[in-house]
Amino acid sequence: MTASILAEAIRTLQDGGITNARQEARWLLKQILDTDAGQPRRPADSLSPEQEELLRSRLSRRVAGEPLQYIMGNVDFHCVRLDVGPGVLIPRPETEQLVEIAISLYPGNGEICDVCTGSGAIALALATIFPQAKITATDISARALAWAEQNASRLQLTNVTFHQGDLLAPTPPTARFALITANPPYVAPDEYAHLERTIKDHEPPEALIADDHGQAIIKRLARDARSRLTPGAWLVCEIGDTQGAPLKEHFRRQGYQNIDIKRDFAGRDRFIIAQQPV
Ligand SMILES: C[S@@+](CC[C@H](N)C(=O)[O-])C[C@H]1O[C@@H](n2cnc3c(N)ncnc32)[C@H](O)[C@@H]1O
Repeated sequence: MTASILAEAIRTLQDGGITNARQEARWLLKQILDTDAGQPRRPADSLSPEQEELLRSRLSRRVAGEPLQYIMGNVDFHCVRLDVGPGVLIPRPETEQLVEIAISLYPGNGEICDVCTGSGAIALALATIFPQAKITATDISARALAWAEQNASRLQLTNVTFHQGDLLAPTPPTARFALITANPPYVAPDEYAHLERTIKDHEPPEALIADDHGQAIIKRLARDARSRLTPGAWLVCEIGDTQGAPLKEHFRRQGYQNIDIKRDFAGRDRFIIAQQPV
C-alpha cells in the first residue's frame, strides 16, 4: 500500500459488502496509527510493514463478518469507553437512551441494581454520573462479567460490584433498590433466525433470545423486582418494539403504578418504566 492506503482499505470493505465502508476504513486506519503511542505520527501513506499487516488482517476479519467493535476492541457508550470482544453483547446506541431515562428517574440517593449487565454498559455509565451511588450489577454469563469487571477496573469505578447469577437472585436478599435497570434478552426465537449474520455468528445468543415471544425474562424481572424496590422506586427496562402493549398489561397486573412506554429516536416502542407504589 502507498498513498492509496485509505482508498484501498475502503475498496476492500466495499468489495466485501460492508455498507459503511468509508467510515469503517477510516476508523480502522486511525486506530492503527494512534496505537503507536509516543511515536511521531506517520502520515497515512507510510505505514510500517507491521502496521500494514495489521490493517490487512483487520480488514479481512471485517470482510469475513466479524463486528467492527470486536475488531477495534472497544465501543463508546454514553459517557464511557468499553472494552468488548467475544462473549459479550456490543452495547447499542439506543441503550444510551435507557441511561438517560434512568438518570431522570433516580432520586439521587439509594442503591441501584443493573441486571443483565453484559459489558457493564448501563451500570458503569450510571456509576460515572452518580459516583456516590452504590451499584450492584448482575449477569448470568461469566464471560460477560469478565468484560464488565475489566471495564470497571480500567475506568477506575469502584462503586459497582458484579455478581454472577439469574436476574436479582445474586444480590443480597436484604438489599432494596431505588432504581433497577435492565437491558435483558428480548428477541423471540423465530425473530432471532432473521437477524444479520454478523450478530448470529459472533454475539452470544443467550444475550439476545428469550422465550414467550421474547418476553419471558422481562416478565420474570417485573415479578421479582416488586419485593426489591423501595416505595416510589423505578424499574426501567429495554423492550422489543412490538412488546409495549402486552408488557404494559403484565406490569399492571404485577401492581406497578405510573407504567409508561417510551420510544426510541426512530419512534419505536423501546423502553418500559414502572413505579413501585409509594
Ligand atoms: C441484551 S444483553 C445486554 C447487555 C448490556 N446490559 C447492554 O445493554 O449492552 C443481555 C445480557 O443479559 C444476560 N442474561 C441473560 N439471561 C440472564 C438472566 N437470566 N439473568 C441475568 N443475566 C442474564 C446475558 O448474558 C447478556 O449479557
